[in-house]
Amino acid sequence: MPKVFYTQPDGSERVVEAAAGDSVMQTAVRNGVAGIVGQCGGVLSCATCHVFLAEENAGDFPPVGEDEDEMLDCAATEREDNSRLSCQLVLDDGREVHVTVPEAQL
Ligand code: FES
Repeated sequence: MPKVFYTQPDGSERVVEAAAGDSVMQTAVRNGVAGIVGQCGGVLSCATCHVFLAEENAGDFPPVGEDEDEMLDCAATEREDNSRLSCQLVLDDGREVHVTVPEAQL
């Protein structure tokens, strides 16, 4: 079972057990994790699922795609090198993923 560690801008952390095949966004929305909206449902048209992915997990997912890259430019909180749209981070079984939620999504 994958696990996602969500760190809020204030440093507080929430650990959620996820289902393999779900995205980091879906896991957050289903479990009421603050700060991840997922307005478009995961079709790369909103950028309200922006997160900062921990360096240790950088190699666990495919690189940023062209559409994701464009949408990240529209994120409410300025993107950084480790910015990802969490709807594109699909969880494999047994994976432990650490993300930080940005200050604002809208
Ligand atoms: S949920 Fe809209 S881009 Fe990820």
